Amino acid sequence: MLKMKDYNLKQTFFNIINMKLFNVYPLFNITPIKGKDVYIYDENNIEYLDLYGGHAVISIGHSHPEYVENINRQVSKLGFYSNSIQNPLQVELADKIAELSGCDDYQLFLCNSGAEANENALKLASFHNNKKKVIAFKNGFHGRTSAAVAVTDNSKIIAPINAQQEVELITFGNLGAVEQVLRNNDVCAVIIETIQGVGGLDESTAEFYQGLSKLCKTHDAILIADEVQSGFGRTGDFFAFQKHHIEPDIISMAKGMGNGFPIGGILIHSKIKASFGLLGTTFGGNHVACVASLSVLKVLEDEALMDNVKVISKYVLDNVKNISKIKMIKGRGLMLGLEFDFPIAELRKTLIHKHRIFTGSSKNPNLLRILPPLTIQKKHMDVFFEALKLEL
Ligand SMILES: Cc1ncc(COP(=O)(O)O)c(C=O)c1O
Repeated sequence: MLKMKDYNLKQTFFNIINMKLFNVYPLFNITPIKGKDVYIYDENNIEYLDLYGGHAVISIGHSHPEYVENINRQVSKLGFYSNSIQNPLQVELADKIAELSGCDDYQLFLCNSGAEANENALKLASFHNNKKKVIAFKNGFHGRTSAAVAVTDNSKIIAPINAQQEVELITFGNLGAVEQVLRNNDVCAVIIETIQGVGGLDESTAEFYQGLSKLCKTHDAILIADEVQSGFGRTGDFFAFQKHHIEPDIISMAKGMGNGFPIGGILIHSKIKASFGLLGTTFGGNHVACVASLSVLKVLEDEALMDNVKVISKYVLDNVKNISKIKMIKGRGLMLGLEFDFPIAELRKTLIHKHRIFTGSSKNPNLLRILPPLTIQKKHMDVFFEALKLEL
């Protein structure tokens, strides 16, 4: 006779084998099961060179021993407790970010992802000045949650429930258009990626970023620098905006911050005041996430990875600038886009399946994105150049 216990087990098993994944991702037919530094390995131990970093997430290399050891140690002590208790790891993380970035006049709020970081940034801006319109830029990407997706330039991912936000999408670099909108004094925030990631690695001029910063101050709008993709050393500076000598009011971070462990955060200028309950999250800033991010910062510093970014970036530029089919090289550091004179979809597939090299795509169909772990060496890039030579 089938007992209730057996029945439940059977039911559970039955449900598991019939449960389909919600099919939103077009997948490459590759199943990585382990990673080591700049390589990932599939179930047959086939090695792939990772020039994609799981979308600019892997900063200090896959399974860095110090990172693994620290996370193991922390999870065996205390993995999580709520934000209603003292968590000195959050304080340590704030201090270390200030030290390495040089952004020391800021306060840290921790969450779990890039979209959530931008969501909190936009909400905080609106709380701060009691306004609600947002200026964002064409080709920008800021995430998929409510306000973050509303300020993203992709109508396909904006649901009717998101479309109610008041957003002005302005051509990247058009300061005059920004000023015109700001004059109405109803803008709470201007959100910008210094280098547009998903959009295709475009960057404007120092005059533009400095002008934007000045205009925001004049019109009491909060300047949000979205450093989700470019932050934590990926461009060779800690944050990409630092090249242009501006001081944003809020800086959003995620991706490389945890080297794959989910963590995001915002740095909030000291002029914006906190009050109890203004922002909050259950998982944000948990013990393991803090240790993951502290480990990333320690390795960034100990292994001088931002210097490595500059060296390897120059090496890439020197090696690809004479490839006639590459029309333009965009981006900075190890956030690079190689713009070819043809759509790169097939080339990208060939790189993966024939040469075992992961690269990224973008909104621009001709642009191949290079977002490797910041530990990458010249010898790894040589493998990529050889593959390009064979295929072009
Ligand atoms: C610049 C930028 N902002 C925000 C996001 C959203 O981050 P997440 O996917 O962690 O929500 C991304 C993701 O690609 C991004 O590139």
